[in-house]
Amino acid sequence: MAILKSTLAFLVLAFAFFFCCVMSTGSYDYFQFVQQWPPTNCKFRKCSKPRPLQRFTIHGLWPSNYSNPTRPSNCTGLQFEARKVYPQLQSDLKISWPDVESGNDTKFWEDEWNKHGKCSEQTLNQRQYFERSHAMWTSFNITEILKNASIVPHPKKTWSYSDIVAPIKTATERTPLLRCKLDKKTQLLHEVVFCYEYKAKKQIDCNRTAGCGHQPAISFQ
Ligand SMILES: *[C@@H]1O[C@H](CO)[C@@H](O)[C@H](O)[C@H]1NC(C)=O
Ligand SMILES: *[C@@H]1O[C@H](CO)[C@@H](O)[C@H](O)[C@H]1NC(C)=O
Ligand SMILES: *[C@@H]1O[C@H](CO)[C@@H](O)[C@H](O)[C@H]1NC(C)=O
Ligand SMILES: *[C@@H]1O[C@H](CO)[C@@H](O)[C@H](O)[C@H]1NC(C)=O
Ligand SMILES: *[C@@H]1O[C@H](CO)[C@@H](O)[C@H](O)[C@H]1NC(C)=O
Ligand SMILES: *[C@@H]1O[C@H](CO)[C@@H](O)[C@H](O)[C@H]1NC(C)=O
Repeated sequence: MAILKSTLAFLVLAFAFFFCCVMSTGSYDYFQFVQQWPPTNCKFRKCSKPRPLQRFTIHGLWPSNYSNPTRPSNCTGLQFEARKVYPQLQSDLKISWPDVESGNDTKFWEDEWNKHGKCSEQTLNQRQYFERSHAMWTSFNITEILKNASIVPHPKKTWSYSDIVAPIKTATERTPLLRCKLDKKTQLLHEVVFCYEYKAKKQIDCNRTAGCGHQPAISFQ
């Protein structure tokens, strides 16, 4: 009986530890709204379409922590349910948030919700999470902002970090963040991040250190 009791106590403690310290519940400071340039994804991973989309699409909306860049993720909370993405929202997201790699859009939304969305469920439920993300994507057309500043895909030309940030900052009146990927010696523009305050309503300046820092020159292909 004593053994059973202590085993039980151990199990209870193990569970408590698991929920406290392995699965974090949603606790965050602000949101990062991340848009990606599909041709850069497709340089690193096999993509289902022969020619990747030539426009910025959503990667995800990530509740974030100022002092801890990797947390939170994989929170406890309701699992993704495809039926909560109602048909009109689904057709919107197919444009703004496609899966450029596998081509299974629903799978991509599921992964992003389960990894990130659940961590801000107290602010945005699943439906609101996808609606807000689509609205954020619609609020500024990065592809067009860059195009108007003559920043268009080019195999050889390069830009500085501030060349690319400046027109986006002018259009949005907020500082974005750029993320790059290193392809051999070339630094490729991969993602543009907008930051939003806790409620995901107002865009704010991003202040995290840039994700492009390997070299001064950035290529956009
Ligand atoms: C951010 O992460 C730090 C370090 O893990 C933690 O102490 C803090 O509570 C987190 N902040 C929020 C708002 O979750
Ligand atoms: C979250 O889960 C994914 C998939 O299971 C895993 O790859 C990732 O490392 C996890 N992240 C954390 C911070 O535990
Ligand atoms: C796409 O992903 C969803 C969610 O994971 C899954 O239910 C569905 O079977 C997948 N579709 C295909 C065609 O693989
Ligand atoms: C964004 O701008 C690009 C380039 O001008 C254009 O091709 C695209 O249709 C625009 N997207 C939306 C949703 O307006
Ligand atoms: C880009 O330039 C066109 C033509 O001058 C203009 O109509 C459009 O509003 C501009 N778009 C942005 C996002 O600045
Ligand atoms: C970014 O801004 C937040 C909120 O104002 C602040 O708490 C944080 O320390 C800042 N981080 C950096 C790297 O400046």
